[in-house]
Amino acid sequence: MRALSKPLILKWLNAFMRFSPRALRSSAQHATDVPLQLRGECRAGQVYLVGAGSGDAELLTLKSARLLMQADAVVYDRLVGDDVLAMIPRGSERYYVGKARGHHSVPQAEIGALMVKLAGEGKSVVRLKGGDPAVFARMGEELDALAAAQVPAAIVPGITAASAAAACMGIPLTDRGHAQQLRFVTAQLCREDGTPDWGSLARKDETLVFYMGLSKVSAICHGLRQAGLPDEWPIMLVANASQREQQSLVGTLADMPEQLAAKPLPSPCLIVVGSVVQRVTTSPAAPADLHAAQVFMH
Ligand SMILES: C[S@@+](CC[C@H](N)C(=O)[O-])C[C@H]1O[C@@H](n2cnc3c(N)ncnc32)[C@H](O)[C@@H]1O
Repeated sequence: MRALSKPLILKWLNAFMRFSPRALRSSAQHATDVPLQLRGECRAGQVYLVGAGSGDAELLTLKSARLLMQADAVVYDRLVGDDVLAMIPRGSERYYVGKARGHHSVPQAEIGALMVKLAGEGKSVVRLKGGDPAVFARMGEELDALAAAQVPAAIVPGITAASAAAACMGIPLTDRGHAQQLRFVTAQLCREDGTPDWGSLARKDETLVFYMGLSKVSAICHGLRQAGLPDEWPIMLVANASQREQQSLVGTLADMPEQLAAKPLPSPCLIVVGSVVQRVTTSPAAPADLHAAQVFMH
């Protein structure tokens, strides 16, 4: 049944690409066909480290979608969206290795061992991670586990939360008038026992993106102000970027802790700091309901 159903699903996906309303429009207007055929393989005994994107299933790459439909087993995390999970065929094996509410995540060594075991059984395995599998996603440990067991692997990138959040708020992450550098920072550094180099982070020509920082917003605002960024320096928080439940706050380093206390945001949440955030107020691509009456420093 499984052997029959997967080629069928791929056929449907190809048919969809060919006959979707957009494809039909393009053939009517330009007399062209959609040349895309999803025919790549999904090898037995190999592990594919695949990015699921930021939650919106339409932001999944075609390659990721194909592999999801072809793989014998899918090992997935908490931040993978339900719409993406719904694409896994019913006959495929699924293993959830994310954090359950109030519980710890499955230890990394167990995840590695699971992938090695599944591949050793001759299965094709997709290791599905939220966003991009190479950005704050412990890919290094997983590659090490696969290498130690001589399991072949391939990496399929996904849309990381920074790209999704910027797009959904209608701004670029870099802009020649605002930022010549872009830095992805793990806010785990802001723990009491770890001190980020605030001096190196407090630059006016850079956009900073903090991952895993919702509980560290006050520390981030304080650290950057202490290191010399102005009180009115722009910051935005975007929770559940690209999803129906997306929420955001736009403000300054001085007022963001108070804004967040008044309107707590859920996890996952991304923090973007930099003068490019000013562009939210004038962007035609910003969310329509954004309270953009913010006063920024120029
Ligand atoms: C362990 S990291 C995983 C990052 C992921 N690999 C990526 O490329 O986006 C988890 C953090 O990513 C951010 N994140 C992931 N998905 C998000 C989303 N849809 N909206 C906002 N932030 C998100 C949050 O900061 C969250 O705490």
